[in-house]
Amino acid sequence: MNRPMIFDTHAHYDDEAFDPDREELLSSMKAGGIGTIVNVGASIEGLGKLVEIVEKYPFVYGAVGIHPDDAPKMTEETLKEIRRISRMDKMKAIGEIGLDYYWHKEDGEHEVQKKMFCSQMDIAREEKLPFMIHSREAAKDTLDIVKEYMRDGMYGGIIHCFSYGKEMAREYLGMGLYLGIGGVATFKNARKLKEVVEYAPLSQIVLETDCPYLSPEPNRGKRNSSLNLPYVARAIAEIKGITTEEVIETTEKNARELLGISL
Ligand code: NI
Repeated sequence: MNRPMIFDTHAHYDDEAFDPDREELLSSMKAGGIGTIVNVGASIEGLGKLVEIVEKYPFVYGAVGIHPDDAPKMTEETLKEIRRISRMDKMKAIGEIGLDYYWHKEDGEHEVQKKMFCSQMDIAREEKLPFMIHSREAAKDTLDIVKEYMRDGMYGGIIHCFSYGKEMAREYLGMGLYLGIGGVATFKNARKLKEVVEYAPLSQIVLETDCPYLSPEPNRGKRNSSLNLPYVARAIAEIKGITTEEVIETTEKNARELLGISL
């Protein structure tokens, strides 16, 4: 049997941090044990590059969406563009979408973020695609919106870079959603997340990098890439008292099932 390959559900290889060596790096993934990557949209300007990367590499799939940081810049045209791109064969989700009250504190901004979050959730529902959610210091509003959509025939999704506690995890797990776990799980001071990892069933966890951000220990602070995911898988295995292979194999299966990507 082949060794299980890692599935990175959340990477940003369109980011300029990868301009110097994108091609070389992506060509080294198979040898590094990385089987599949979802490149996730974030900025409006990055959408072209996202499509380019997804079309170029057979093992790279896409999620299309705009991050809450860019919500104030979004127009009807942006939403049309997201819908158009989402219909490409290799686009498997709408993301990353959601709410970020950490960087954006004003009430007016929160309203704009909520409106664009919901408009993109509408696209996910109508195009029958799962969603990938970014939520930072916006626990209640995110949960309210996700609950409402899940009652209304959504396909499912991932709460990316999960940063809340066990109570919030219970809510999302109860709706059948997945938690995206990345580099933070390896940090010494990440007690809250380690509790969540211990609590969540492996059948509802997926691996992610959020690269170029959030490099795991021992590479914390450096540019991240999918090649660092073995450190995250090992950290999850240690917390749960299982083997790293089991973590890699199950999280890969979870991601394939949710995103509809067969081997
Ligand atoms: Ni991200």
